Amino acid sequence: MSHSLAAHSLADRCALVTGASSGIGREVARRLASLGARVVACARRYDRLAELAAESEGSIHPARCDLRDLSEIEALFSEVRAEHGGVDILVNNAGFGHKQPLMSGEPAVWRDMLAVNVLALSACTRHAVVDMQARGVAGHILHISSLSAHRVPGGSGMYSATKFAVRSVTEGLRQELRDAGSPIRVTSISPGFVETEFAENYHGDPDAAAATYRRYPVLQPRDIADAVEFTVTAPAHVEYHDLLVRPTQQSS
Ligand SMILES: NC(=O)c1ccc[n+]([C@@H]2O[C@H](COP(=O)([O-])OP(=O)(O)OC[C@H]3O[C@@H](n4cnc5c(N)ncnc54)[C@H](OP(=O)(O)O)[C@@H]3O)[C@@H](O)[C@H]2O)c1
Repeated sequence: MSHSLAAHSLADRCALVTGASSGIGREVARRLASLGARVVACARRYDRLAELAAESEGSIHPARCDLRDLSEIEALFSEVRAEHGGVDILVNNAGFGHKQPLMSGEPAVWRDMLAVNVLALSACTRHAVVDMQARGVAGHILHISSLSAHRVPGGSGMYSATKFAVRSVTEGLRQELRDAGSPIRVTSISPGFVETEFAENYHGDPDAAAATYRRYPVLQPRDIADAVEFTVTAPAHVEYHDLLVRPTQQSS
């Protein structure tokens, strides 16, 4: 999956990938580094990030950040600015769901889901856009959203609410950027089932997670890294807005 060799290299670009300690984020960080980008990989589990940096042939820099805390996000961007000049590509991937129904779920968990999936994504975007504008960079903002931005699976009302919000802030940002005459692109990628740590966190049960991923061949993190590569290496006049990526056998 590629456009052209000339468009392919991300050398001299700094990419920040949130939630790079596992699953999709980890694979996206590896892919962007393999395309030549200097990648800042952020998450709470620093040991995982350090391992990723050590085993990668490309340039990956671990950065610990709890995205629920806005001051940690601010410190993260200051660090990236000081060490790498600023973010050219932002992949807002960090996110999670918990099975916490609207009739009986824990409001504190809803708050954390909203904090990471929506508020942190929006705060990171704002910092990155300010940085890109200050340096005159035609950057790229990518959100890893979900098919749950397009339908509401049973019991997932609040998780879906966070992803519907991502859909809204993607379109809202696109309009603001166009009104401002900015060349910055914004893309949302909406995956179906991807085999990661997500399902175990969602169900709180490894057997339920295994059953989710055994039903039929589900997506692997590299499939989403392919979609990221495709959108980020597209010619400057092409903006992919929302890419829905399903396992072929996923019906909804
Ligand atoms: N897997 C799927 O089927 C699927 C489908 C559609 C959409 N998605 C979306 O894909 C994205 C990535 O999920 P995944 O499937 O790769 O799941 P995952 O393996 O559980 O990865 C989630 C990542 O988010 C990070 N994260 C969570 N809370 C954080 C916090 N407070 N601060 C910083 N980082 C935090 C985690 O890092 P730490 O725990 O180390 O902080 C981890 O690196 C999410 O936005 C998810 O909603 C997944």
